[in-house]
Amino acid sequence: MKLATLKKLIFEKNVLSFLRLGGETQSLYRSAFASAADASGLLSLLHEAPRDSHSIAQALRVGPERHHALLAWLDCGLGVGELALRGGRYHLKGKLSRLLARPRNDVTAAMFAEVTRYHFDAILAAPTRLREGRAYTLDDQDGALIARSSRILEPFVEEAIDWAFAQDPQPPQRVLEVGCGAGHYLSYMLRQWPQMRLSAIDMQAEVVASARAHLKAQGLLERVSLQEAQLFELAPPPAGQGFDLITLHNNFYYFKTDERRALLDHVAGLLAPDGRLLITSSCQGGSPAVAALHLWWTLSDIDAGLPRRDQLLGLLQEAGWRDATHRQLLPGESYYGFLARRPAQAQ
Ligand SMILES: C[S@@+](CC[C@H](N)C(=O)[O-])C[C@H]1O[C@@H](n2cnc3c(N)ncnc32)[C@H](O)[C@@H]1O
Repeated sequence: MKLATLKKLIFEKNVLSFLRLGGETQSLYRSAFASAADASGLLSLLHEAPRDSHSIAQALRVGPERHHALLAWLDCGLGVGELALRGGRYHLKGKLSRLLARPRNDVTAAMFAEVTRYHFDAILAAPTRLREGRAYTLDDQDGALIARSSRILEPFVEEAIDWAFAQDPQPPQRVLEVGCGAGHYLSYMLRQWPQMRLSAIDMQAEVVASARAHLKAQGLLERVSLQEAQLFELAPPPAGQGFDLITLHNNFYYFKTDERRALLDHVAGLLAPDGRLLITSSCQGGSPAVAALHLWWTLSDIDAGLPRRDQLLGLLQEAGWRDATHRQLLPGESYYGFLARRPAQAQ
């Protein structure tokens, strides 16, 4: 390079500031590639064994006429060091891709996919979506992926479940889980309290299918009354057959602001007179991940976003719920459990 070119770069284009960005742009390229490689199945394919581009094309269902573009994509993986090419076969090389490819890291991989596919998109697209009034809908999310990534919270939700079950000398006998996701809290409860009668609903068919597969694998499917249903579709049970406990984990923000009071009233109608409600939820005011989650939901057609902790407690109080209490489940994060007893005057 000529000295004059270097001078132009430094003094006219301020290339030094661009160089200072170096790590940031590399990590964006790396994240984009690893995320797409995971979602497409390339990571698990290469985790099994190195492959040449033709067997990758076959597995990813890319036709011969697009082979050159597939090679360009794989070149991006090579460029950021996530892939290596030896003897005509692609290997996993980068730390990120190798981490995401390991089956035991499935929950981390799902969380990473949620961040790159939904959180990134919400932050990037917010001004345009707001200007154009284009709201996300549930169809913009892969329900099974969200159910998998929600499992990162499992230890905290399990602690909240233990808390709810320890409230009375006699543990709850009839329990309903609303929005059961992949069904892991159902198997947790059945293992801890095998005598209970457990019902569960989720409104997304593919999520119910994943819960069914999980329960079947655990030999517990016969022990749960599992159905695809929306909470508001459930009719109040006959007198004397109300639930002792109803749980809603990580889905309070699926309800619009004006539905949240109706949700509490409807749940009250499903409970036995002294039955309790347990809600676990991220609330506004947490880490960047919680802020991005809140953003996605405020950009959605549900619009309300994550609840505020004081707002949710106020709503329980206003609706007459007794003994309402809450606790922070994840130290340093805005993630809470809320527990309350059915209002005395509920129908
Ligand atoms: C983020 S996922 C959480 C899944 C699971 N509870 C967990 O914590 O892993 C929220 C789930 O709640 C379900 N859901 C939301 N609103 C619902 C409603 N009104 N009735 C039934 N299911 C609902 C969604 O379909 C979704 O599967």
